[in-house]
Amino acid sequence: MSSSGKFTKLSFLAAFLSFVLDAQATSSAGFDWSKVQSSDSLHWTPCYSGFQCARLTVPLDYSAPQKASANIAVVRYPSKSPKSKYLGPILFNPGGPGGSGVGAVVDSGAAFATVFGDQYDIVGFDPRGVSYSTPMVSIFNTEAERNQFYPPAFTTIYPPLNETDLAIPTQWARQQIFGSLAKQRAETFLQHITTDNVARDMLRITEAFGFKKLQYWGISYGSVLGQTFASLFPDKVGRLVIDGVMDPDSWFSANLTTAMLDADKALQSFFDGCVAAGPEACAFHAPTAGEISANLAALTTSLKGNPIPVVTNTSYGIFDYSLLRNLIFNALYHPYQYFPLLAQGLAALAAGDAGPIYSITAVPPATSSECDKNAPPFHDNYLESGVSTICGDAIAVTDSASQIRAFYENQARSSSFAELFSNWRVFCSGWKIHREGRFLGPFGGKTSFPLLVIGNTADPVTPLASAKRAATLFPGSVVLTQDSTGHTSTAAQSTCTFLHLRQYFQNGTLPKAGTVCPVDEELFPSASSSNSTAKRASELHLLPLNIQRLTLIALVYWYLTT
Ligand SMILES: *[C@@H]1O[C@H](CO)[C@@H](O)[C@H](O)[C@H]1NC(C)=O
Ligand SMILES: *[C@@H]1O[C@H](CO)[C@@H](O)[C@H](O)[C@H]1NC(C)=O
Ligand SMILES: *[C@@H]1O[C@H](CO)[C@@H](O)[C@H](O)[C@H]1NC(C)=O
Ligand SMILES: *[C@@H]1O[C@H](CO)[C@@H](O)[C@H](O)[C@H]1NC(C)=O
Ligand SMILES: *[C@@H]1O[C@H](CO)[C@@H](O)[C@H](O)[C@H]1NC(C)=O
Repeated sequence: MSSSGKFTKLSFLAAFLSFVLDAQATSSAGFDWSKVQSSDSLHWTPCYSGFQCARLTVPLDYSAPQKASANIAVVRYPSKSPKSKYLGPILFNPGGPGGSGVGAVVDSGAAFATVFGDQYDIVGFDPRGVSYSTPMVSIFNTEAERNQFYPPAFTTIYPPLNETDLAIPTQWARQQIFGSLAKQRAETFLQHITTDNVARDMLRITEAFGFKKLQYWGISYGSVLGQTFASLFPDKVGRLVIDGVMDPDSWFSANLTTAMLDADKALQSFFDGCVAAGPEACAFHAPTAGEISANLAALTTSLKGNPIPVVTNTSYGIFDYSLLRNLIFNALYHPYQYFPLLAQGLAALAAGDAGPIYSITAVPPATSSECDKNAPPFHDNYLESGVSTICGDAIAVTDSASQIRAFYENQARSSSFAELFSNWRVFCSGWKIHREGRFLGPFGGKTSFPLLVIGNTADPVTPLASAKRAATLFPGSVVLTQDSTGHTSTAAQSTCTFLHLRQYFQNGTLPKAGTVCPVDEELFPSASSSNSTAKRASELHLLPLNIQRLTLIALVYWYLTT
């Protein structure tokens, strides 16, 4: 029920979660996965347009493989090379956790092939529990019950924990409910929805292709998955790229404090970029970064006491502190896409008009039960599967509300977005399902092929320091720094990064240590600058690859199935 007409507005919501490059594709609708028989080998059926689909049966519990199984939805954008040149599958994970690899590859497989080359199958899979893979993580019995639990606007999925004195205890109590429902309704299944098992599934997928070693590109949470794979199966690494790197020890201790190390740097790039661009390209311009920062702070403070009612032709809502904070945080993930728009919205807001900025956050009009009608067997379960994966992976967290407050206050010392991101700790404090014997580390080791590790200079949730640490965990791996703000290398187009990716896969060549790739885009493009980007890409026969732009069409579970 989504349409590309909704794309611009709704894509903003796509970022809501976290580490995310959530990928749900408009184009991934319209194929009936329930008709694809799941089996121990890959039997391909034509699907979407130019793709092939299959479902692979894997053990739900690898320690008791006969007991129950999961069926993994797999899609490939097939290699165009003759058999003699064929180089096998490259598996892609779009992050989340909970992002649909099927959706991402259906939307961007063709673009990825221009980067990696025609010799590969570009492969997306929905990690166990996610989207078209079955069984699916579902905490709620009905859509109505799900809608009742989640806030009316998806845009407030991270309630700012310092908004009121009640914010922490309320969110804590809600997440206790979420965790209790999960335990009561689906513990037997949910205990197996963990990253170590997804890594095992990736090995099965690779073997089902007839290959022994994994070729993989994982962004954001996909970096946790990649590092887990490399730690569990160091001798099964063919090519492995982690891009937008999350530190595994932080992840598995449900403490993402270090994830925020560069968040304020990303925000600073909004101020600095705006100054440099000038008032024509950046509507929220002021002569210095300090002034822009102060102007933003004034708006934020004013909204706290004065939320703004907004009524549009099709919907209504309140533009408040929470919406603004979430909006800014999410713009940091996709700055090349959203900074100019954010600047326009802020400028209008400063002039007393909340309409434009509210329309970016795009709380869509409530829809009836259309989702239910189109859904089976799919509803978008991104948040449910995301929380169950991260919290089921990690050590058990049993923080009380006051311990959460202390956690938040500590995180707030290193990031001004702690009030949002500390919500992950709250999610996990309610989660009550932790399988004995799941893999909790140690992470690292000597792999059969070195890893390519990519980090941006100012990524709001996966700092460069985590990329550097990953490289020390896996000796021989090399860090490629992309000189851009935004989350993962896909936040901006960089021909330089593309060429290193291609060389790594095709030729096994790692970049020289210390390589820094510039990007082809500007944060606040002027009328003339966008041309050179397109020109460079076309000279290299690259499709402009930006999976936000191409694929990350809203993950608005409640409003869209995709
Ligand atoms: C979380 O990590 C931060 C940074 O490493 C540390 O200061 C803090 O004590 C940790 N909190 C908990 C509850 O482990
Ligand atoms: C809202 O409705 C008014 C009156 O019908 C119309 O003039 C206007 O163009 C509409 N605005 C939008 C954004 O659709
Ligand atoms: C919440 O904390 C952030 C920094 O962590 C700060 O910028 C913001 O002003 C605080 N909000 C409130 C309502 O205190
Ligand atoms: C492939 O690798 C070899 C040896 O590492 C290197 O000399 C050569 O330039 C590489 N070729 C390409 C196209 O990158
Ligand atoms: C940008 O490209 C458009 C269309 O290709 C062209 O008309 C325009 O002159 C170009 N602008 C500049 C500044 O190169």
